[in-house]
Amino acid sequence: MFAKYVCKIMNSRRDFLKQISGAALVAGAAPSILTWAFPQRQVVEFPGEDGMILRSFRFVDLESPVEYFNTWLTPVPHFFVRNHMHEPSELDANDWRLSLGGEVEKPLTLSLAELSKIETHSVVNTLECAGNGRGLQRPQVPGIQWDKGAVSTARFSGPRLRDVLQRAGVKSTGKHVMFRGLDEVPGKVPPFIRSIPIEKALDADTLVATHMNGSPLTKHHGFPARALVPGWIGAASCKWITEIKVLDAEFVGNFMSPGYRLPNQPAKPGDVVKPEDTHPLTGLNVKSVISGPSDGASLSFKTGKVLVHGAAWAGEADIAKVEISTDGGTSWRSAKLGHEQAHYAWRLWSYDWKAGKSGDYTILSRATDSKGRTQPATAVWNPSGYLYNAIDEVKVHVG
Ligand code: MTE
Repeated sequence: MFAKYVCKIMNSRRDFLKQISGAALVAGAAPSILTWAFPQRQVVEFPGEDGMILRSFRFVDLESPVEYFNTWLTPVPHFFVRNHMHEPSELDANDWRLSLGGEVEKPLTLSLAELSKIETHSVVNTLECAGNGRGLQRPQVPGIQWDKGAVSTARFSGPRLRDVLQRAGVKSTGKHVMFRGLDEVPGKVPPFIRSIPIEKALDADTLVATHMNGSPLTKHHGFPARALVPGWIGAASCKWITEIKVLDAEFVGNFMSPGYRLPNQPAKPGDVVKPEDTHPLTGLNVKSVISGPSDGASLSFKTGKVLVHGAAWAGEADIAKVEISTDGGTSWRSAKLGHEQAHYAWRLWSYDWKAGKSGDYTILSRATDSKGRTQPATAVWNPSGYLYNAIDEVKVHVG
């Protein structure tokens, strides 16, 4: 079984390297180490992770097939997984400690039992990896070749970060809050440490999450505690946190720069972008994805109606509308938005389509949010393939 895996992965890796060999490797490329990453869709039986697409074996990266985007809350075994390094191998809830230090009046350490005594708050949040859709960006860029499914939604619960910080007392010099995870760092790889500005850290919906959909976090998702920074790129939500430090400036490290930054001006492949001409990624883009019918589906004309459905999200904004086109973008009709909603969560949507005649069709979906942002026809190209959000499309045959 293992040999079969390795064989599949090696073939895919060779193909992948071939595929990207022509692409320019430029400054600011995705910070993940190019190890066993591959672009093809590979469904793998990972314990407790049904039907997920394996994007990297070392370190574990699992994508959710878009067909799974049919429940407002994603069941935990279907929630995508993104790791930059090895997950911590031994985690004993009794031994785990969270230290708070830096620009605080009273540095302290909390056990899980102490943390659980702080009032719990819940936030339904759509978590999306900044690199979701990187595999669709043209020209291609290196990094995990995510298709559309590095995004999922869950109800996260735990104490508010601000209540935890209050115990230590933030000094007026505290401007950023840094999280360190317990990942096992291979060799000389820089550890996964990132920071968020104090305003977002003190927001009433930013959590030290211990639970997901009502159950303790699983190991893949950061047991026993992770940061939950709602509406922001997934990388802000550090897993397996063991240290929170209040800083007087943004943390300096690989996963803050060059990682997870965008050029201030549009860049072309081959451009060298200086770090001072970039800014850190924060909130997510407006985006919709079609989860059915599947790309390439053959639909029966006899049944008459086709239910086009999917999900749409917009980070810190709300979804205002989702429009569907079945004529390649000439005309657009509004989809029906699902009744389940929460500020940072995706909206499921659906559209009853009656294909007038048999033939080949391209179905498009386009979301607009409360800030007036609309999905563009082409995503803004950037050297790391971040925040891809072009209008989604599937091709179907009605016969
Ligand atoms: N936290 C740690 N400690 N190590 C990581 O590699 N990956 C980040 C973030 N938190 C990461 C981390 C990234 S890039 C994403 S998109 C989210 O976790 C993914 O969260 P999930 O695996 O629970 O879906």
